[in-house]
Amino acid sequence: MAARPDPSSGAPRAPGARAAGGDPPARAEVISLRPVEAGPLVVSGLSECMLADGTRIPIRGTVHLCRCGGSAQKPFCDGTHNRNGFTGEEPAQPAPSQAGTRRYEGRGFAVHDRRPLCASTGFCTERAPEAFVRGREPWIDPNGVDEQALKQAVELCPSGALAWSAAQEKMGRHPAAQPGLQVLRDGPFCVSGPVQLEHPRPPGDPMRFTLCRCGASANKPYCDGSHRVSGFRDES
Ligand code: SF4
Ligand code: FES
Repeated sequence: MAARPDPSSGAPRAPGARAAGGDPPARAEVISLRPVEAGPLVVSGLSECMLADGTRIPIRGTVHLCRCGGSAQKPFCDGTHNRNGFTGEEPAQPAPSQAGTRRYEGRGFAVHDRRPLCASTGFCTERAPEAFVRGREPWIDPNGVDEQALKQAVELCPSGALAWSAAQEKMGRHPAAQPGLQVLRDGPFCVSGPVQLEHPRPPGDPMRFTLCRCGASANKPYCDGSHRVSGFRDES
């Protein structure tokens, strides 16, 4: 069992981004993720697990990560799911990939938003509060901040909900990322692809998606932002 990490706070880091000054992680094999029914997320091919503050936990072989929210050794599973009634129940609803995209036009570029994919991480509203205002209609104003700041905020989105494109392009795009898994403090697992996810419902964006680790999502194995409502905390 790896030592318990310190999930201390830090500035949001784009999933897949490297920590400043650090060595690039070794990448030997394809990262494979398997959510076990009523149990943990079984991960293989991962050389390290990155926390939101950039702390890296080296991983050797297969690792079991908690997705019931009850482990005392987060982000690792300690068997608590056998005692806290976690069922891992999944919805009988359309896959996130079928969710519609709304487009918000700005000067020279556009922001694309797939709301059902949002994991409520708050990266967009914290990074560019003038452009992203919850409750406002339209809630995204691409002209609210300068283009560079807006693109940076969009590129931080770990769930695949947000993307940007040049004005004439139809499709939104995300920046290239390195395959990996980041543990968001008090939030989901942020996965950047390509990875192998063993699940019948594919993620909305295979290159960038979030997986529930609080146990409360109604869209397991994906995060639906429920950690904000349930008050999930790493220290419990
Ligand atoms: S998941 Fe993306 S869209 Fe949702 S709050 Fe976070 S950054 Fe914003
Ligand atoms: S999934 Fe095993 S302790 Fe949470």
